[in-house]
Amino acid sequence: MPSSIVILGTGSCAPTKIVSNHDLAKVVDTSDEWIVTRTGIRERHIAGQHEPTSELAARAASAAIADARLTAADIDLVVLATVTPDMPMPSTACAVQRKLGISERAMCFDLNAACTGFLYALDVARSLMAAGHHRHALVIGAEKLSSFLDWQDRSTCVLFGDGAGAVVLGQASEPGRGILGCYLGAEGVDPSLLCIPGGGCLHPASAHSVEHRQHYVKMKGREIFKMAVRVMAGAAREILEQHGLTADQITWVIPHQANLRIIETLAKDLALPLDRFIINLDRYGNTSSASIPIALDEARRAGRIHPGEISLLVAFGGGLTYGSALIRW
Ligand code: ACO
Repeated sequence: MPSSIVILGTGSCAPTKIVSNHDLAKVVDTSDEWIVTRTGIRERHIAGQHEPTSELAARAASAAIADARLTAADIDLVVLATVTPDMPMPSTACAVQRKLGISERAMCFDLNAACTGFLYALDVARSLMAAGHHRHALVIGAEKLSSFLDWQDRSTCVLFGDGAGAVVLGQASEPGRGILGCYLGAEGVDPSLLCIPGGGCLHPASAHSVEHRQHYVKMKGREIFKMAVRVMAGAAREILEQHGLTADQITWVIPHQANLRIIETLAKDLALPLDRFIINLDRYGNTSSASIPIALDEARRAGRIHPGEISLLVAFGGGLTYGSALIRW
């Protein structure tokens, strides 16, 4: 596929309410020390009752469209990655379309690849654009995980947060810039490792499903940790090899923000210092599909990304999904 699709603008949205580790220690049996040592997380943003995923997504998308110096009328494709949609149907992408007044000719749909969702959405959108059907795509990662967390389960509720990030894609005016490539895959593993068991057709909502707290995130953290380390390094190495690059040619690695220890292990594997990684999980926790586009937007707005540089995006998520992408700015 020719590397002709570029990121024209980025945006992100974090709900204003911030919940610190100390706040959580008042709700469950945990401590700031435990959470910081095991994960690197210090605080997270939590959305309010009237801030569904679509609202966070629309705010991030609106910022990305403005950053691209476009209007909603220019968008003809919306791909929204989420595991926490407003509803099973209709798609959260259609809610964003309605909120922003995006054209009725736009193709709008949700995509679920858990925390790798944004990279999957990026590749799907750029492939559709490369086929010539769309001029400007909105690619969004948005989550309101707080609605799916068991606030009595200290092993999961301390890890996640809410937020959204978005990019606008367009055609490149100069060759050699833009999304150089994506590498995506999945290992269909035992879902009990990481899942929200209730609410689908396997375990529809019932008194039993509510009583057994099946509508919340369940995770076997230690197993996921080991898999995450392996697939993140694999996805990073594979895409570098595919493009004939070495890790030291990458200016910034923008990893999925799940756990600082996972990122540190990736840094060792790539023989890169940690200061070449964009890290903001201390302030956001794990926002699943929103984590990479939020980190990307923060880095761009802080002036940390410069023309000509190459960024490596890399993620893993429930499934187990994994992926990486290379972008030349
Ligand atoms: N506060 C205090 N103690 C806790 C807490 C907490 N919040 N949570 C668990 N513990 C206890 C456990 O009960 C256990 O106690 P025990 O030894 O008496 O049984 C002890 O701490 C150690 O628990 P472990 O699970 O072994 O701790 P570990 O060092 O593995 O860290 C963690 C746990 C942080 C969850 C880690 O395994 C991890 O980060 N895993 C990856 C998770 C991840 O990245 N998930 C995102 C997936 S991406 C997606 O798609 C959503």
